[in-house]
Amino acid sequence: MTETTDLKDPGPGCPHHAPSSPEAVAVVSAPAETVSPVTATGVSEHFVALPLDLSVHYDPLSYAVYDHPYDTYRRLRDAAPVYFNPDREIYVVSRYDDVRAGLANHTQLVNCLGNDIDGTHDSYGAGMLVAEDPPRHTDLRAAIRRTFAAREILVKEEGVRDFARSLLADMHAQGGGDFASDFALPMSIGMGISLLGSPPEDNTAFVEHLWRAMERTVGKYGIPDDAAVANAETEELLARRFADRRSAIADGADTSGSDAYTQILLASHKGKVFEGEQDGLAHLILSAASDAPAALFTNLVYVLDKFPRMQGHLRAHPELITAFVEETLRYETPGQNVSRQTTEQIVIAEFTIPADSRVMFLQGSANRDERVYPDPDNFDINRKFTPKNRIMSFGEGIHACMGAPFARLAAKIMVEELLKGPDIRIVGSPVRWVKQLVRGFSVLPVEFAEPGSGVAHQHFTLENGR
Ligand code: HEM
Repeated sequence: MTETTDLKDPGPGCPHHAPSSPEAVAVVSAPAETVSPVTATGVSEHFVALPLDLSVHYDPLSYAVYDHPYDTYRRLRDAAPVYFNPDREIYVVSRYDDVRAGLANHTQLVNCLGNDIDGTHDSYGAGMLVAEDPPRHTDLRAAIRRTFAAREILVKEEGVRDFARSLLADMHAQGGGDFASDFALPMSIGMGISLLGSPPEDNTAFVEHLWRAMERTVGKYGIPDDAAVANAETEELLARRFADRRSAIADGADTSGSDAYTQILLASHKGKVFEGEQDGLAHLILSAASDAPAALFTNLVYVLDKFPRMQGHLRAHPELITAFVEETLRYETPGQNVSRQTTEQIVIAEFTIPADSRVMFLQGSANRDERVYPDPDNFDINRKFTPKNRIMSFGEGIHACMGAPFARLAAKIMVEELLKGPDIRIVGSPVRWVKQLVRGFSVLPVEFAEPGSGVAHQHFTLENGR
């Protein structure tokens, strides 16, 4: 498997230079008081070494972070709230207030290199919303606004519920299965398809592409060649669907629908979306609707398995399911981070970051920041969220998630439908996605069992070998 490693190529249309070389960058990985003023050249006069405590280390591509990130995040928040990893040439911001302010700052922290660090967006076409800045971003986002309008999402509820029921019925008939491939992936792709206006039969191809497109190698930058090919295949299929829709409209088809194909074609007709941006924009809708929601669906099961009595509690109190979903989004954030590029030298939490630097904002850490959430490692279904402490899971500012209401609705439906059946337990060998941004499971074997049936809790005795 070969890797593409041209992370530093800004790509066409990006007005910024490649990130500075390590020598030119001030290493700002110590508490604020030890950092010196910055010179006119943008380089800190004191070259602050890595923190003395060698356990303060963050590499977004390391196995340790896939394995258990929260410990690492706490160390960062306490000892190095703006951390610089010289090997990856990346600044890492971990406290809630700094993450929120950074994501809201779209003038000094821009998206022209995409919002990931692993080359994900190199294999996407133009029009990819999360790799665009104003003014293109403004027009592209406006073009699909209606697709995401609250009333358009609400009318999808019944269809989403029916689809969830049918997927769960198949799993119940088998007594279990792989929750990732039997439910989470087809369900999330189904959401993308309903937003796009693609025919339901596209689900199989899109799931297969997504599965390949999510492949990564722990510890390495870049995406495997086949993942890039899978992305290209997705855009080919999307291009065919645009062509179908275009000719249907030319033949007099109704254009009053909110589906993204129609909305994008109408916006193109008005000159708001360029023809070369159509497939990339549609691809973004599909991929945004797929990987993070699929991760969320598996994380909901993970939490139900971790705290099994929650299942009975939620059956008895279904009005708490919305709160359960929100706390799961905080506790196991499906999109752990997003990254930006600095347009000029900036200061975050009293640390200076040079122009043209890659900066990663850890939403997974912000959501566990004890400065904002009391007892943050505790899963608290009664936790109160207000505009001041709202979770960072869906981002902030001009790129804030357009699909958040749909994701919350689908997650609620999933839990409601799941809990109509017997308890669910994870059995077997789960596998996490290794795409660094996503936290969730690519394989999640589960079984269904009535409480007390013996599957959930085996009682071992000396006689049976313990
Ligand atoms: C658990 C589910 C989801 C999570 C955690 C999530 C998270 C996010 C985050 C963090 C961003 C901001 C990216 C950035 O700042 O660079 C974002 C953007 C976006 N999301 Fe979601 N998302 C989810 C579900 C969805 C769904 C179901 C859709 C429907 C298509 C969707 C559509 C979008 C779009 C279109 C954007 C781009 C907004 C822009 O760049 O202006 N998301 N999402």
